Amino acid sequence: MKKIKTIGVLTSGGDAPGMNAAIRAVVRTSTYHGCHVLGIQRGFTGLLENLFIPLQNHSVAQKISLGGTFLKSSRCPEFKTRKARSAAWQNIQLQGIDALVVIGGDGSFRGADLLVKEFGLPVIGVPGTIDNDIYGTDYTIGFDTAVNTAVQAVDKLRDTADSHNMVFFVEVMGRDAGFIALNTSISTGAEATMIPEVQTDIGKLCEYLELERRKNKTSGIIIVAEGEEQGSASAVAAKVKERLPNYETRVTTLGHVQRGGSPTANDRVLASILGHDAVVALLDGKTGMMVGVVNNQTVFTPFHEAYSRHREINKRWVNIAYILSL
Ligand code: F6P
Repeated sequence: MKKIKTIGVLTSGGDAPGMNAAIRAVVRTSTYHGCHVLGIQRGFTGLLENLFIPLQNHSVAQKISLGGTFLKSSRCPEFKTRKARSAAWQNIQLQGIDALVVIGGDGSFRGADLLVKEFGLPVIGVPGTIDNDIYGTDYTIGFDTAVNTAVQAVDKLRDTADSHNMVFFVEVMGRDAGFIALNTSISTGAEATMIPEVQTDIGKLCEYLELERRKNKTSGIIIVAEGEEQGSASAVAAKVKERLPNYETRVTTLGHVQRGGSPTANDRVLASILGHDAVVALLDGKTGMMVGVVNNQTVFTPFHEAYSRHREINKRWVNIAYILSL
């Protein structure tokens, strides 16, 4: 096996708070082990457009607390073609990159897996997405910050909901998963949670809201995950309003505000450990895998498992959220 002297690092897909902390860890760990680092800007697009920048330890100073990704990110549909990947491989060789760390979500790991399988490039993936929906890790980088951002917003909405006896439908991110919704719901004492993993009956939801009113609950917060089967928060609010026309309802979509901001300490720690362990794994000869943390231990999951399997939501927690809201 070729000795690894130069490691490339890129961030891909939706940005997530903590990605900068992960890049920093990759750079500092590589330097510690005598390797050079090339940052690739704009994810896989940078491999096609030759957007390479050398990174030294000082390049990542004061980056740990910054949201977003200073390497920038992109979604790169072109990378699905063999032609684009071959062009990327040419550029990787020209730059003398011996191994790669890909920080991103499941789509990014699909691209990474193809680089391993088609060209034999050693690649390790680091899970970075606010959605927390990646199989093979208890937490993804950015999730904790996104939940805290959502919680702050919902606490504020509760003030106004309470002052006016309103029911708020709050849409949080999570295209295919309800992790942000569930944790936000538990943390804010929301009256109901609607997530793609569990079917919601609008009739029962209305009965429940009525019951709560009779118990003198003045406000209501319903957290709706973006990927909810019944539709967006506005669609759900409209269905409820049809059945309960006297209710004052409002809709708030938190949107991309959840992707921004300085990472929490939890995300900084997770990103630092995973970034470090990704580099050590490459130097140990590991490839084609994502590094994650399960029960506080570093674990490696083959890319194809990480992107083809689903991380299950804890259904017990869904029930607990319900019990605590009664
Ligand atoms: O990063 C994941 C995610 O936050 C999803 O929850 C959401 O559907 C998606 O990004 C939206 O991202 P974009 O606007 O970049 O397509």
